[in-house]
Amino acid sequence: SIQLLREFDGFPFNPLLDASWIAEIPDYPISPGDLYIATYPKSGTTWTQQIVSLIQWGGEKDTHISSDIPWLESIGKDSARALSPPRTLKTHLPYDMMPGRDPANSIGKYIYIARNPKDVAVSLYYHAKRYAAFQFTGDWDCFFELFMKGEVSCGLWFHHIFGWWEHKDAKNILFLKYEDLKKDLPASVKTIAQFMGCSLDDAMIDKITKQSTFESMKDDPLANLPLGFPVVSGSTPFIRKGVIGDWKNHFTDEQSTRFDAEYTKRMSGTGLVFDFQ
Ligand code: A3P
Repeated sequence: SIQLLREFDGFPFNPLLDASWIAEIPDYPISPGDLYIATYPKSGTTWTQQIVSLIQWGGEKDTHISSDIPWLESIGKDSARALSPPRTLKTHLPYDMMPGRDPANSIGKYIYIARNPKDVAVSLYYHAKRYAAFQFTGDWDCFFELFMKGEVSCGLWFHHIFGWWEHKDAKNILFLKYEDLKKDLPASVKTIAQFMGCSLDDAMIDKITKQSTFESMKDDPLANLPLGFPVVSGSTPFIRKGVIGDWKNHFTDEQSTRFDAEYTKRMSGTGLVFDFQ
């Protein structure tokens, strides 16, 4: 009941991705106007894709977000090379494996979305059970141990987050939290638009917000991701629950205490704090 993962340079990733392409991504070109949505999986990637895509389409679109904003690691080298700038791409790569290797000193723009790691762990658990490729048949307790060790897709959460958090003040990086989107979606839409260099009037913010709520995305076939990967029957939908604090329905007291101790050990002094409820 363990996930089958592939690794590149110590970075574990989804077994369906092409390792030789992952190895080349740091040399993928960056052009002015390129925009990346970067996350550790299950942190609000799709949600942010929906918002960015709607901003780019002026509030109305009839295309799937995974074609509007492709996943860099999964499209493969030929499709990636064929994309002409400016490109908008999604990625789960850690900071130093990004195209150009050092986003803060590149000409691209980057939106990084972080989510409290207890909810990330729970969401990733359902994700691992959902996709056949992970071959994960364990229970929550089993998954919790894998998450703590970083033996999950995209590795240790603490490493991923820290690489990006260190560069959060770079002017071409916007560091946002899932919980902030959840607490004030219109303000988050506005912040994202401003970062992209677009000024939206209130009517447009309202229009984009309405199409980016959990309820509307859940029923939107153009917003459900990802396409094309075999799904285990009876598993939870991709747009699953969308709340802050679902970890409380999964973590035992002992797991919660252990996780908090690990968080304090690794993150104290960084100033990075999350809302856990
Ligand atoms: P849950 O499994 O906790 O429900 P990603 O896109 O990075 O894989 O993240 C998926 C998580 O974001 C899932 O979390 C999903 O339900 C949640 N999500 C997607 N769209 C959302 C929205 N509009 N509002 C709140 N949460 C959303």
